[in-house]
Amino acid sequence: MAIQFQEDNQLFTINTRHTTYQMKVDRLGFLLHLYYGARISGNMDYLLTYYDRGFSGNPADAGEDRTYSMDALPQEYPHLGTGDYRSTALVVRNADGSEYCDLRYVSHEIKRGKYALKGLPAVYAADDEAQTLEILLEDSVGGLQVRLLYGVLEECDIITRSAKICNLGSEPICVEKAASVCLDFMSGDYDFISFCGRHAMERNFQRARIAHGCQLIGSRRGTSSHQYNPAVILADRQATENAGSCYGMVFVYSGNFLCEAEQDQYGHTRALMGLHSDLFHYPLEKGETLTLPETILCYSAEGFGTLSRRYHQCIREHLCRGKYSRQSRPVLINSWEAAYFDFDGETIYRLAEEAAALGIDMVVMDDGWFGKRDDDNSGLGDWQVNERKLGCTLGELVRRINDIGVRFGIWIEPEMVSEDSDIYRSHPEWAIQIPGRKPVRARNQLVLDFSRKDVRDYIFGAICAVLDQGDISYVKWDMNRSLTDIYSAETVQGKVTYDYMIGVYEFLERLMQRYPDMLIEGCSGGGGRFDAGMLYYTPQIWCSDNTDAIDRLRIQYGTSFFYPVSVVGAHVSAVPNHQTGRSVSLSTRGVVAMAGTFGYELNPEKLSAEEKEEIRAQIARYRKYENLICSGAYYRLSDPFADAYAAWAFVSPDREQVLLNVVMQEIHGNMTVNYVRLNGLDPNARYRDAETGACYYGSALMEAGLPMPVEMGEYRAYQIYLEIIG
Ligand code: GLA
Repeated sequence: MAIQFQEDNQLFTINTRHTTYQMKVDRLGFLLHLYYGARISGNMDYLLTYYDRGFSGNPADAGEDRTYSMDALPQEYPHLGTGDYRSTALVVRNADGSEYCDLRYVSHEIKRGKYALKGLPAVYAADDEAQTLEILLEDSVGGLQVRLLYGVLEECDIITRSAKICNLGSEPICVEKAASVCLDFMSGDYDFISFCGRHAMERNFQRARIAHGCQLIGSRRGTSSHQYNPAVILADRQATENAGSCYGMVFVYSGNFLCEAEQDQYGHTRALMGLHSDLFHYPLEKGETLTLPETILCYSAEGFGTLSRRYHQCIREHLCRGKYSRQSRPVLINSWEAAYFDFDGETIYRLAEEAAALGIDMVVMDDGWFGKRDDDNSGLGDWQVNERKLGCTLGELVRRINDIGVRFGIWIEPEMVSEDSDIYRSHPEWAIQIPGRKPVRARNQLVLDFSRKDVRDYIFGAICAVLDQGDISYVKWDMNRSLTDIYSAETVQGKVTYDYMIGVYEFLERLMQRYPDMLIEGCSGGGGRFDAGMLYYTPQIWCSDNTDAIDRLRIQYGTSFFYPVSVVGAHVSAVPNHQTGRSVSLSTRGVVAMAGTFGYELNPEKLSAEEKEEIRAQIARYRKYENLICSGAYYRLSDPFADAYAAWAFVSPDREQVLLNVVMQEIHGNMTVNYVRLNGLDPNARYRDAETGACYYGSALMEAGLPMPVEMGEYRAYQIYLEIIG
């Protein structure tokens, strides 16, 4: 049993294979957090200390006891109103205007299986793989109830947390701030690791000490954002890739979020992950409930590598859904960087012909096939095929392409509308904007109010009418601007940002149900909505609009801390690269794109015969190692921000096969030799380099490493396949 309750001590203990999480109901009915970390035994309430905290708040029922303060005690779900002055998980405004609640333990239930969240993405598991703990807290005066949900995947070392906030009082209330998880640490010194960036340069690793005060990241953009990924690590200050304590918090949500890390006056550390409190004032009438998106927690005592591999397994096997979540993905070629808006049906057909000759499975017709859309200033929302531009119907084009053995995929951006579109001219109120004010534009487009069912229904109908025109096996779901001017003509204000996301999820769910065999790839100006929420619906996401192989080393490195390679959209594109102007060899571009869902983003007509031959060989190589790449354990072997080379390896679960990938980032005169040390091998086994025949002990490869060749030229890449020989 992963979850245990000890009645006499009112103690909850959650054990996973390698971790323990403990909390207790104390004498006043508060739910206190006791411990989260490496697996331990016993009752940890000896860690609680009580000293005179008279200058902090003392709850009324503590009486004269000035040592009892919610400002000093570690809590499971801290809330504003109890005398805790730190950042709290929950802020509720009551009908009388006061911001207050006082939640005490009422009861709990332990259930088989993992809870699900209606309308929200969440980790799933078979009933015998998981357990759920539900703890009911109540404010006896106001009638507010909070159900804390804990999902435990024992074998995966994963604990998920969510909460349901229900107003059972007679008056309406308003939820002003709500986090799904709080982690309170009574001791320790931590670093806060976040993944920040910008369009075309997402998820850069950033590590900073948690000091007194509050460090926060988040998004008010309506999407999880390019700027801060909704996933962080709290690490022991000494923790490294392969050693030390670290905690992950991954938010399963694609909209506004807030993550706070704070060291309080007593040196305690608190971390919160939840909905952003800006642009959010969620009213709850009597009987209404707000369900919070979940956070996936994981702890590793062996550094970031183990933490990442646990997240990879969880996301691959317990979050991604649909036919493709565990199946080989098509190698595709996308028309965007090949033709941008400048194409017709013949261009796409020729791309398909080239694809067929190269061994590429699918051609994707990107932006520009609908309405009046020859640049990015018009047409969004008019999801009618521009047959004049294509020179045929969509059905005809798809059939021609299918007939030469190539599958067909298409780009859509359902949440968007251009002011220069028929749909906007007839329904300006469907766009998110504030009446009487001129809306902020981005990429010259507005966002449709997906919190409204009528808007979603219309767009759903229009898009299905397109998808029904032929055998379309893939959709790239894009989202190219952030939300501003938050207002809805229908939805109650304060709910819009949350209900918008619920609307997007509902749309995606409907799409999945209607086209169960279709692969949906997420995208938001590249990786602007690269999060665990989207992965529940789209088992792969375009990682970045930046296809430069060298920049991708960093982007994919940051992405790998939580997200498995099988979800990372990565393509080989043309040189000089369209985002950076850099030229890198085709071989290096191939090695980098193979750390993802492999594909191409270029016009093969511009390639030489030798390059085409190389691409054929690249695809064959990818297919050969695909299983190892997509389901092997992922090991980061360098830090591309600091080291002269970027290196990573895929190791099969039985440790018998290894694919080592190395890209040199630096070249200098009289160059020094780089030794790449492997990881995750069997130390006592011997491994054979399939190409050279050289044999090495696993221990040697891990302790001393392999010397990389010194060769002329920048950005050389090496892919070395090693197999155990006993
Ligand atoms: C975004 C995507 C690109 C491409 C364009 C089309 O930028 O990330 O891949 O689809 O939109 O407009």
